[in-house]
Amino acid sequence: MMRATLSGVGVLVLLFAGGAVCAAQTLREHADRAGLLVGAAVEPRYFSEPEYAATLAREFNMLTAENVLKWGAIRPSRARFEFGPGDRLVAFARKHRMKVRGHTLLWSEYNPRWLVEGGFTPAEMSAMLREHITRVMRHYRGKIFAWDVVNEVFLADGSVEPSVWYDRPGIGLKGKGTAYVEQAFRWAREADPDVLLFYNDYDTEGINPKSDAVYAMVKDFKRRGVPIDGVGIQAHIVDLEAKDLATMEANVARLVALGLQVHITEMDVGLPVDAAGRPRDEAALGRQAEIYRQVAEACLRQKGCTAFQTWGFTDKYTWIPDFTKGAKGLPLPFDSRYAPKPAYEALLEAFRRRALTP
Ligand code: XIL
Repeated sequence: MMRATLSGVGVLVLLFAGGAVCAAQTLREHADRAGLLVGAAVEPRYFSEPEYAATLAREFNMLTAENVLKWGAIRPSRARFEFGPGDRLVAFARKHRMKVRGHTLLWSEYNPRWLVEGGFTPAEMSAMLREHITRVMRHYRGKIFAWDVVNEVFLADGSVEPSVWYDRPGIGLKGKGTAYVEQAFRWAREADPDVLLFYNDYDTEGINPKSDAVYAMVKDFKRRGVPIDGVGIQAHIVDLEAKDLATMEANVARLVALGLQVHITEMDVGLPVDAAGRPRDEAALGRQAEIYRQVAEACLRQKGCTAFQTWGFTDKYTWIPDFTKGAKGLPLPFDSRYAPKPAYEALLEAFRRRALTP
């Protein structure tokens, strides 16, 4: 009798647990259960579109600014800071209980003309960068949990790319490799002692000369106590062969072993499209899903990989057609009418499985 009662309770507990697991249906629910962040880059000007806002809030627990926090958007002139669009983004996230990633405080691109063509001296550039990092980070203190402090400084061979912040004219550390990156991280930590500080780059999924350069830099930073908390791997996958993904998990693992977090920050997988923007090959949607699954799994298998984010979420709004002059498109998990694609199902499955593994 006693035995029967106990097993009855056992069955009830099992039923309840099973029911709870099955109840999770969206990407966001699975990520919440696994204690992970799943995000998308957004443009606040689309928040007024009901399907855009609804899909975003339903499927993601994190968002980032596709453009509105970059110099070219937030700094219309030397004296003026334009925080309006960023503030709207933060308000949306707060309303829907989402975390916000900040992107970005130092990049060679998307800078205002007044800065790039201003003829400033390195001393002036240095002062303006420090002021920028301090003002922007303080404005969003407590509202943004992680910043891409520095974005894309290496070339494919692992050398430091010439840029306005490095050597044209630079902030006074020209010819000194990643010393200017280090300076930016030190200023960022001064501005906000609590926020997570990330270095972010592309073509750094697998092990290659560029990801080796990132690894060497952050290893050196950790050894010398330069403040840094994580590395962002963008994952703009341009080649459907995606050979580099074979070594992705090993790359994530070596960064995590340094005591750093890894975030996948900008994933998209552009497909070859015709002039009308239709896929050249229907089977490509399956291949795209496979690549999403591979990247998500390479991240989710490592405990230190704590966030997975796509660059946009609907094919309606994506930078890929512009960037590839119309050769590629349809890179995201939702189609242009907000219907989930095979890529979405692949992500859902990867997160569901991760949520079930303790
Ligand atoms: C892109 C945006 O998506 C475009 O809208 C903009 O015109 C240029 O920047 N790597 C990055 C992102 O770190 O900031 C870039 O975003 C895409 C590549």
